[in-house]
Amino acid sequence: MNPTILITGGAGFIGSHVVRLFVTKYPAYRIVNLDALTYAGNLENLRDIEQAANYVFEKVDLLDAAELERVFQTYQPDGVIHLAAESHVDRSILSPLDFVYTNVVGTVNLLNAAKKQWANSFEGKRFYHVSTDEVYGALGETGLFTEETPYDPNSPYSASKAASDHFVRAYGETYHMPFVLTNCSNNYGPYHFPEKLIPLFINNIINNKPLPVYGDGLYTRDWLFVKDHAVAIDMVYHKGKNGETYNIGGFNEWKNIDLVKLLCKLMDEKLGRTTGTSLQLITYVKDRPGHDRRYAIDATKINRELGWTPSVTFEEGLSQTIDWYLQNTEWLEHVTSGAYQQYYEKQYAS
Ligand code: NAD
Ligand code: TYD
Repeated sequence: MNPTILITGGAGFIGSHVVRLFVTKYPAYRIVNLDALTYAGNLENLRDIEQAANYVFEKVDLLDAAELERVFQTYQPDGVIHLAAESHVDRSILSPLDFVYTNVVGTVNLLNAAKKQWANSFEGKRFYHVSTDEVYGALGETGLFTEETPYDPNSPYSASKAASDHFVRAYGETYHMPFVLTNCSNNYGPYHFPEKLIPLFINNIINNKPLPVYGDGLYTRDWLFVKDHAVAIDMVYHKGKNGETYNIGGFNEWKNIDLVKLLCKLMDEKLGRTTGTSLQLITYVKDRPGHDRRYAIDATKINRELGWTPSVTFEEGLSQTIDWYLQNTEWLEHVTSGAYQQYYEKQYAS
């Protein structure tokens, strides 16, 4: 029997890359994409593969336990790759409960649906939970997050993801549910919703709008091209060991202000603007509350055990990403109309 994999959040940023990779690389698999299509979910992200014979879409909210059971009964998935989540830290500060509902309650609903469907035997089954390095809290000037770093989340987003990680492990211990878990650093690339730093700033540069740098701009993130993350997810799904956690990162740390300056330089070149034009848009604004100073991942384990390593350099990935946004202005216009404007005004009101 060919496997069926249920991917949640497949209409989102990372999920759409994962769905595309699995649908095209594994034509014999059936890929079921379950997504509620919130503001962050967009079927335009999947136009190129939506007619594929091995692809099915189900518009379902993780909070609807009965619908989740129906999907499990209908498709009888062998595996789950769980990406659906509320994913933006700033929104979690504005509205923490939404994060508890989707990320915590939604994950437990999904675990329950899988447990019920797999009640006879967990043989050949796997629940793969996709998480973030933000669960480990903040680093100082030195050091890296390893799989042994204790959880110490600071934002409502990272607290909700930490809780969901704990529930996945608890289902492993308590009910022997076979699981794997990954904690990844900041992703960037095509289809990234323009509320996160890189796509927001690309969109603002295109539109000559201010680039709101939080605080002193010296916060550090480790950036990974989204397609490299999707390849890592493929490897962990197929070769990872049950009950294990793998950290995924780009070995690519940037202080926000340095990244923004690089982005300005590349955008000026690509837009044919005089060097330095976009730099003038940089505006320091009030800091994010509870802003984690630095994230950096030690991805040695996934490299050593599964042979994964990032393949795209940051300059290449950033250049490809900018080109994608410049070629997909209609996508940008669609996702930034309507509710996006209200969020933007609320978040960036001075
Ligand atoms: P995203 O916000 O772009 O997409 C989330 C998707 O989940 C959307 O398609 C949305 O419609 C769907 N969704 C939200 N609530 C739902 C609900 N209640 N029921 C069903 N579907 C729902 O997020 P992303 O950046 O693609 O992140 C995907 C996953 O990867 C998340 O779990 C996130 O925590 C994790 N992650 C993200 C990053 C990153 O840099 N973006 C890094 C590490 C880990
Ligand atoms: P973000 O893309 O929101 O990812 P995360 O908070 O999950 O790391 O932010 C990346 C960094 O950029 C983070 O240090 C916050 C900063 N930032 C700004 O300075 N201005 C902005 O408008 C945004 C959205 C983020």
